[in-house]
This record gives sequence, C-alpha cells and structure tokens, in this order.
Amino acid sequence: MRLTVNGLTQEAAARPGQCLRTLLRDLGWFGVKKGCDAGDCGACTVYLDGEPIHSCLMPAFRAEGRSVTTIEGLSGPCAPGEGVPAQFHPMQAAFLAAQGFQCGFCTPGMIMTAAALDPSRRRDLGTALKGNLCRCTGYRAIRDAVAGVTHVDAGAEGDPVGRNLPAPAAAETVSGRARFTFDTAVEGLLHLKVLRSPHPHARIVAIDRAAALALPGVVAVFTHADVPGRRFSTGRHEDPRDDAADTLILDSVVRFVGQRVAAVVAESEAAAEAGCAALAVTYAVRPAVTDPDLALGPGAPLVHDSADRPGADAPPLHVHPNLAAEVHGEVGDVAAGLAQADHVYEGVYHSQRVQHVHLETHGCLGQIDADGRLSVRSSTQVPFLTRDALCTLFDLPRDWVRVSCGRVGGGFGGKQEMLTEDLVALAVLRLGRPVKWELTRQEQFIGTTTRHPMRVRVRLGATRDGRLTAMALDVLSNTGAYGNHAGGVIHHGCNEVLAAYTCPNKRVDGYAVYTHTLPAGAFRGYGLSQTVFAMESALDELGRMVGLDPYELRRRNAIRPGEPMVSNSLEPHDVAIGSYGLDQCLDGVEAAMKADAGQAPPGPDWRVGTGMAMAMIDTIPPRGHVSDARLLLEPDGTYTGRVGTAEFGNGTATVHRQIAASALGAAPERVRIVGADTDHVAHDTGAYGSTGTVVGGQAVLRAAQALAQAILSAAAARMGADPAACRLAADRVETPAGPVPLADLGPIAAEGRAEGSPRSVSFNVQAFRVAVHPRSGAIRILRSVHAADAGTVINPMQCRGQIEGGVAQALGAALHEEVIVDGDGRVVTQSLRGYPIPACADVPETEVLFADTHDQVGPLGAKSMSEAPFNPVAAALANAIRDATGARLTATPFRPDRIFGAVMAALGEDACA
Ligand code: FES
Repeated sequence: MRLTVNGLTQEAAARPGQCLRTLLRDLGWFGVKKGCDAGDCGACTVYLDGEPIHSCLMPAFRAEGRSVTTIEGLSGPCAPGEGVPAQFHPMQAAFLAAQGFQCGFCTPGMIMTAAALDPSRRRDLGTALKGNLCRCTGYRAIRDAVAGVTHVDAGAEGDPVGRNLPAPAAAETVSGRARFTFDTAVEGLLHLKVLRSPHPHARIVAIDRAAALALPGVVAVFTHADVPGRRFSTGRHEDPRDDAADTLILDSVVRFVGQRVAAVVAESEAAAEAGCAALAVTYAVRPAVTDPDLALGPGAPLVHDSADRPGADAPPLHVHPNLAAEVHGEVGDVAAGLAQADHVYEGVYHSQRVQHVHLETHGCLGQIDADGRLSVRSSTQVPFLTRDALCTLFDLPRDWVRVSCGRVGGGFGGKQEMLTEDLVALAVLRLGRPVKWELTRQEQFIGTTTRHPMRVRVRLGATRDGRLTAMALDVLSNTGAYGNHAGGVIHHGCNEVLAAYTCPNKRVDGYAVYTHTLPAGAFRGYGLSQTVFAMESALDELGRMVGLDPYELRRRNAIRPGEPMVSNSLEPHDVAIGSYGLDQCLDGVEAAMKADAGQAPPGPDWRVGTGMAMAMIDTIPPRGHVSDARLLLEPDGTYTGRVGTAEFGNGTATVHRQIAASALGAAPERVRIVGADTDHVAHDTGAYGSTGTVVGGQAVLRAAQALAQAILSAAAARMGADPAACRLAADRVETPAGPVPLADLGPIAAEGRAEGSPRSVSFNVQAFRVAVHPRSGAIRILRSVHAADAGTVINPMQCRGQIEGGVAQALGAALHEEVIVDGDGRVVTQSLRGYPIPACADVPETEVLFADTHDQVGPLGAKSMSEAPFNPVAAALANAIRDATGARLTATPFRPDRIFGAVMAALGEDACA
C-alpha cells in the first residue's frame, strides 16, 4: 500500500490485522506511542486526512492513499529520524512554555489532540481531552499549555537554583523526537511473548512445545526446564537480601493467575502469540488461598512450600510459612498509655490494590553488542541493580553486561522491579539474536505488581487537652504470591507514620502475607499512603472526641526540632530533622482554606465539609542508597554530566543540570546531563525513594565542586597563579594574570559520590473542601490545597508539577481506582476501560504552597518531593467527607455506593431518601 506520512509518500505492506499505530512505527515514526492499544489513552493520536484519530483502533490498510500526520510532522513536512524542527507548531511551543509534561509519553498524543481543537472547544478541556490520559501531571500544566500560560523563565540570568528552567529534553519531547525504550530500530529483531497461568496454584506436570515449534516464525520455546535454578526477587534494592529470594525466571509451580508459564520467541509478535496458544500444558491444580487472614490460619495452602523450593538460596521462613515479612516493636508501654488516656479511639481501615498505570508499559530490548556483551535497553528505574541481578543469574562478570535506558515513560515505583529483563536476557544469551518483549496493557494488570492492599488497626489514646499518650498500629499486608518489597513496604509504612508524632508509648505489629494472588510491589509512598490514611483518619476522630481543631491537634503532637525521632523502636538511626517546615505547611494550608471557599456546591441538597491530613517521610530509603556522578569539562568549554539515575518524569535531569550549573557558575544550556547507563558511572542504586534530587543531586554537586577546583588548578598552573586567587566564570577562568577560556582547558573530569546517609525528613499537608450528595453518594471537590516542605526548591515549576501529579494519582486511588481480584485469584480489571484513571475532567486544581526552609542534609538545602504528596490525600478526603456528613469512610476507594452506605448509616435513611 502507499500512503503519505508527514508530507512524505511511503510504501508499506500492512500485515493482516495490523493497526495503523504499529504500521507507522514500522515506518520509523516513533512519536506514535502505545499506551493501551484499546483506544483508551490517546497516546497514539495522529491525524488521518486532517482528523485526529486513535491510530491503534484504525486498521492499517484503511490508510491506503490517505494522508497521515504524526507529531513529528505537526509543524511541517519531515522524514523519519529527522531532528527537532527549526520551528514548532504553536501548540508545541505552548507545551514548551508551560512545560505541560513530565515523562512525556502522553505528550505527542496530547499535543495532537489539543492542536486540533478550535478555540471554542478549548474552553471545555475536560470534554475535549477525555480521550487523552496523562498519569504524571495532574493536567494543570496541560490546561495551562492549552490556555497559553508561560511558566518557564529560561531567559532569566543568575543562579539557576530556584528558577523555573525547562527540562533539557523539552524540545525533543514536544516534537516527538524523545526516544523511549522501544523508539529504536533493530535489525533482525525477535519477539518474545509468554503464556500465563490460568490457575492460582498448580504444579506444571508437562509442557508440550512441539506444536508451537512447528509454527512458521517460531524460533524457540523456553520453559522452567531451561532456566537457571537460582532464585531471586523481582524487587530491587541496594542490598538484595532486603527482598525474599523466592522467584525463578520460569517456575515449575505457578502461584498466581497470570504468572509466566513459558516463553515463545519468534520472528514476529503474531508468531510468538500463536506459539503461546499452541503450547499444551498439563497442570496439577492445587488448593489456593487468596485471603491473607486465611493464609495465616492453620492448614492453609502454602504459597511457598519448602518441598517446591529446595536449594541453598531459598529465603528464610518465618513462624508461619505464608508470612513473607513481619515487623514488631514497642517503645514505652502502650497498654499503660491507653489506660491513662482520657480519650481512646480504635478503628480499622482498609486500602485496596491499585495499579501504577505508567503510560509506557514494562519492557526491554536485549542484544549482544559489537563487543560481544549482553546489552539490555530497558524501561527501568534501576538499571544498575538490574545489571547486577542479570550477572548473578547468568554467572556473568559485571563488565559483560550493560543495562541502559532511553527516556522512561513513567514508573511510580513499578519499575523498581525486574519483570522482563531476566527472560529477555535468557533468550538473547541462548539465541544470540536481539529480542524484544513489550508488555501489553492487559499484562500490566495481570502480570506485574500493585500497591499492597492493607488492613490497618489503629489505637490512639490522648489526654483531655489532646496530648497523645499511646499510638498502636496493627497491620496486615497482602504481598501476593511473591515477597518483592514485602518487608520494605511494611517497615516503611509503619515507621514515619509513628515517628511523625511525639508520644511516649508506641507499638507496631505488622505482617506481610503470601497469598495466591498477583504480587504487590513498590508504589509511590511505599506503604505510607495506606497507614497514613488510617492514622490521620483516626487522629481526626480523636480530635473530635477531645474537641480540638485538626490543625491544633497536629500542632500539639507533631514532632518538632530537637525532639527524638522515635517510631516503634529506640534503635539509633541516621534520620535527623535537617530542616523543619511542618509548622509553615499547617499554617499555610489553614489560612488558604479559610481565605477561599473555592467553587460553590452544586446545589442546595449537598452537604459541605473540610478535612486535612499531614504526612512525614524520610528523604532517602534506609540501608544505603548510592549514586555516582561524573562531570567533564569538554574541549569546547561545555560540560557533560554522567549520572546513573533514570529520568522517568521525575525531573532529575533538570535538577541535576541546575545543581551542576550553579556549582560551576555556568549557564544551564552549557551543561548536558546523560543518565541511566551502567557504562557511564560506577554505580547508582536507582531512581526510587525520591532520591533523584537528594542522592543523585548530591553526587552531581560533589562532582561539580571537584571539577570546579580542578579547573581552577589547571588555569592557575597555566598562568603561574595561585588557585585561590582565580575565579570560575561562565566560559573562562579569571586569574590575576588574565583570563583563560574554558575551551583551552578541557578535557578535565571529576567524580562525586553520595551514599544516602544521613537522611532528613519532608512534610506534606493536604486539605480539601468537599460537597457530598447524601442521596447519591456523589462527591465534588470544591477546594484543594497542598503544602510541602521540600527544603530549597530547586525548580518550583517542576516540584509543583510533582505535587499536582501525586495528588491527582492519589485522588484516583482514593475515589475510584481498584484492581479487582475475584475469589479465584483472577484479576477482573484488565484494561483502562475497566480501571479508569483520572482524566482531565476528573482532577480539580490544587493550590500548592512551599515552606521556606533550607535543609542541612540535602544538596543546596533541597529535600525529596516525588512520592510524598500522595500520602495524605485519602485521609484528608475522608476527613472532609466526615465533616460534611458525619460518615467515617474506613475503606478506599470512596465510591459513591460506599459513601451512600456510610452516609445513610450516619444520618439515617430519611436524610438519604
Ligand atoms: Fe503524561 Fe507522563 S507526562 S503520562
């Protein structure tokens, strides 16, 4: 067939059943993205004869003889692979000016849709953009872009720190030239697909691969008989012993519906899928347990029966074999603290499974490179720890394996797992050919990870003047079939939620339990969102019992500088209050809520109320988090920074550039940051735990400071001057004997390392005013204010975006998102249509305030602020609903039916009739 793409006439052969999206990508138009392949997300939006369409829904053959425009050609004709155009389309320029993106994966489709809107439709963006989803931004920056608002101050002079500088890859992102994981053409590529288990628990008796291997295009089939017998965890941490080594690349026992059973590698995706369908598997089905309470009962089916997992690397078992991890501790005497209290509150709170829904699905591309090494290009937050895991699994030296990233299309903790690289590496090593495995959206739901569902029992005691006398948490966490992050999440979830308050008696009992369900894993907030929901809801009730305003209750009990930070033990640790802005956050949110009532309620029947919650988080994960950075003065007088951390929308590339430019006295445009490649620096633990600024940035700062000294020394030596008398300027070194251009001094390199200790704490306070309709359970958010203590805010525009995105994601989890698993362990919600994430119309504006603090621990006074904004949202919303209706919501999500039931119980049937 023949079609015109971006003004270029191209010949193409559409495969049977092929959609236009994949055809365009086959032709080299990588700006056309895949988020769902079901017409739900809009990442694949192109114009067909000038009309915007979702190209994943359009059969490719229908484009014959027609004209297609992709993001690359929005501003004019171009050829595949051409660089950033000299001139942008006005909508691309508007997204640049407002920085209407974070990871940028949704951006091409979003811009294509927005650019096609006539001005009248731009007034109702919620409707106009309903077919385009963004998981990162919370849509405010997108709305601003469409409205023509400018946020960047790229032209301003002065210290880059504290300025709204644009992302280094902004031009590539808005023009569709940013290269994500699969935006590269590879010769001779093979495709991998997996057959997944239909049973929650079974032993694989036999796999007959003959029929699959006989199919045209099928190259190989791998089963549990073909993999190393070494167990590992998909969860990645600096110390691999933090996670239970309970997983095999392919196992002879399946422990959840959706677990990999076998992999088929073929010349095409279709052949690989056909190969999977042709596999004949004989299962010996076993009893399964999907409820964590039942899993801890006597006689429960064992998820990891020691008989199934012989070998020295099996993880240590706890008292009950279905216990993946546990945490216990007490300071003081909780029983005595409750006995002496004037008011005691006890409540039980439930949090559901939620999915990350980063728009770029998991996947990687592996090959043997020109040097004969295994090279994996992956959508990962942890390239170095993945490299190390592959080396261990396949007995390879570190320098024989390279893991690198393109731009990563969102992660939110979900890519702190090794979910595809192991199997792709196996296939590459066995076959010697490049292999690609890109998960479908359905596989994201049935075969990756979720937030840990938790049941949290809270007991609180307080004196009549509202001073806490006792705090106790009893937590049951469902980790699913594997223990990746089971221990870390329950420890973290129980730690800061208690440490945030000063109280003499504290206790924790936490259990992470194996069940025959989809594994849980790391997710923004890492356990805190579940426990903060419980604790801050319970404190709201306690405040009502005492008769104290919620802000005053927090002021009276929250930790203050100089007080010991104690959670459930008195063990010495490395967390200190490097700066304290909680008081400013509380004051700011309270004042903003009082000053502005926000929107009017939708009608007279609606009940209006306000609620707030706070959260504290350690700025760095415990037990070590290492980043190396290398900065080079190039021969042309510019700088290149190499870091290990990945840019996945968290904005670290922008922040690292600003930090380096500030330390070197350079214009930010003269600093190039290259990240996420195991060949570039010695080590990086990974882009998780919000460490990109505080650990990665610290390494960059140290490297930049060392480089500045090295440059001064080199210039001084050349001019016979004292280095102390020399000064580094934007493009030269001023010496007493005259200037030396930087271009005369390069190359000079310097390195910096940060090890993630000591650590500080960040604070977040969220408040909502809501209207609730008692007779329908409907809820409207009338006002949303969020204050953050992020220390020195290196890039306010970007940090505001992180907070807005975190609040939006948390609103989805608080109000409607739920991965539903039926009693047989099957995930029911397998698409974005069944699991809708917030769209533009669903997300209210959130006013963002920053405390004015300077941290003693973080680089240039900065603290972390990527995941923390998520944590107080559900509790603040529940507290607002309680204020409006008297109903206490104790389980997320707050769907209308749940609100209606709770309001009816609180107000009586008459009020809801
Ligand atoms: Fe929209 Fe990441 S910027 S999905």
